[in-house]
Amino acid sequence: MNEDPDLRGALISALQWQIEMGADEAIAEAPVDRFALAAIAEKPASRTAANTTPAVDIPASTRKSRAQTAPTPGPPLNAPATDTAALATQAETLDDLAEVMRAWDGTPLKETARNFVFCDGLPGADLMVIGEAPGQEEDRQGKPFVGRAGQLLDRMLAAIGLDRTSDDPAKATYITNILPWRPVGNRTPTPEESGVFLPFVIRHVQLAKPKVILSMGNTPTKALLGTTTGIKRMRGHWVAHEATGLPLLPSFHPAYLLRQPADKKLAWHDLIAVRRALDGENPL
Ligand code: URA
Repeated sequence: MNEDPDLRGALISALQWQIEMGADEAIAEAPVDRFALAAIAEKPASRTAANTTPAVDIPASTRKSRAQTAPTPGPPLNAPATDTAALATQAETLDDLAEVMRAWDGTPLKETARNFVFCDGLPGADLMVIGEAPGQEEDRQGKPFVGRAGQLLDRMLAAIGLDRTSDDPAKATYITNILPWRPVGNRTPTPEESGVFLPFVIRHVQLAKPKVILSMGNTPTKALLGTTTGIKRMRGHWVAHEATGLPLLPSFHPAYLLRQPADKKLAWHDLIAVRRALDGENPL
């Protein structure tokens, strides 16, 4: 155990920062003894002019606010979207699609996720909800929207008479995400990641045959509509989804609503609009 209280403090704040940023697991094969590395780096003889960086990085958050920090880039993809487009068109059923997507090795996300997360609810339900990507609980259970945000989603759906466990297409919901694999630390998927999975999602909608799509949050809305406009401007405005011809309503993501409960009233307007569309009013 290292006795230097300054170094110990820096390591603890580094760990706290990683936890705040969403890191919840160690993914290296073997532990790294950073006390030993720091001790080596502190020896004057081991420093060169070109290598004066301390072995232990003082976390950026101790110098900068969170808002100033750059978004975390995702790991590079192994394959272009043209691969996924060709694979997606081959799927004739939802089972085929799930199999093709699970087997596809074009993304490093697959190596760090525990489970493949494809869907929940009733295929053929009138409403299809599309979210961002599995979080920790979804990764553990292999089902979308089962953590805190998912519980809020269930309450929101119940408020307009919907239930993902129903076997009546008019009362049920079918749920998926843009990404079927959890990004480490729940980081936001990159536009490249969303783009590469988009052909799978479009095929998913075509095979699930909903009447209406509810797109929850920035990631699915930007990917499905090919826009860079943020969700605050997009929400509440029905759009004809070009690839499927279906009416699509962008709305806030339930995880955002957990952080910003004041915006629940806007989400409520969106839910009423979904209810009306399901009741047969033409939303477009
Ligand atoms: N957030 C999402 O976008 N999808 C999930 O499945 C869970 C949380």
